[in-house]
Amino acid sequence: MLLSFVRKFKHIGILAILALVAVSSAQAEMLRMGMITPPPHIWNNVAEHFADDLLASSDKNFRTKIFPLGKLGGEQQMIDMLQSGGIQMAVLTAGVLSNRESSISGWFMPGMFADIDAAINAAASSSAQEMLRKLSDHQLVGLGYTMAGMRHVLSREQIDSLQAFENRKVRSFPNEVFSDWWQGLHAAPTAMPLSEVTPALNTNLLDIVDVDLDIVVGLKLYQQAPNLLLTNHMAFPGIIVASKPWWDSLSDQQRAMISASISKAERWGFDLTKQREQESVDTLKGLGVNIESFEMSKLQTVMDAVVKKYTSSNSGIAEFYQQNTQ
Ligand code: BEZ
Repeated sequence: MLLSFVRKFKHIGILAILALVAVSSAQAEMLRMGMITPPPHIWNNVAEHFADDLLASSDKNFRTKIFPLGKLGGEQQMIDMLQSGGIQMAVLTAGVLSNRESSISGWFMPGMFADIDAAINAAASSSAQEMLRKLSDHQLVGLGYTMAGMRHVLSREQIDSLQAFENRKVRSFPNEVFSDWWQGLHAAPTAMPLSEVTPALNTNLLDIVDVDLDIVVGLKLYQQAPNLLLTNHMAFPGIIVASKPWWDSLSDQQRAMISASISKAERWGFDLTKQREQESVDTLKGLGVNIESFEMSKLQTVMDAVVKKYTSSNSGIAEFYQQNTQ
């Protein structure tokens, strides 16, 4: 009789454990997170760091599946999906989000940051945080920044003077400030998403690429364009965003848990970006890329003209510029 009681008890115990597992896995939520960058990119590393941290802190109740290289669609499509709640999270370029919230273009004021450390420090400024808050007018929740390296100039032929930019076919990021910058240098900019850069280089459609070093290494762009001019001409943040309809459906506790994981990943990512900026220069040197610096004072007139145009027409950009250049 005792034996049959123990057997029955064991049976009930197993059933109870199975039921608990079923309930907890029914509660676990899968977050879909889209991004356009390739898996080795800093932004993807930051996304993975966030995913691991949230998995642990939520006791496996939030799992995050990362879709790199635009596998969920281009940035505009991802914005549509976030707005409708079709996906939960994404890392989007500040460039594309500036089409929704124009003050975000403040990040692209040429010559504003001497180096990546200065750009990273600006992320904590109240004007940079205000840019994130304003995304809620567009059904998006700006959760934090992840910084790609500074923008530099990669070219087929060596660039050794201001005149060398003239009439050159330049891959420019699709954003008005980038276009003004390259036109100011009398180059011929073509707005082009990242996914089109390698094919355009392969078919000789480009002389110059405006890009960060992590991308140059990750996409091996130096194979077609072996000259690198270190200009630091602009910063290039990514913004970690959530779908507002989804975010509003969470409890305060869940939102706090996700925000804490974002903050940790953000800080971790900033350190990684600083380290990667130097490592990429060393990697490219080792690969035989011709690396030169540029006398940036030669670009001052064009920088000033672009900064004046945007700071005089957008109060958010003016405040961001003022707060971070004092
Ligand atoms: C680019 O289009 O240059 C780019 C996009 C995402 C991350 C880094 C660079």
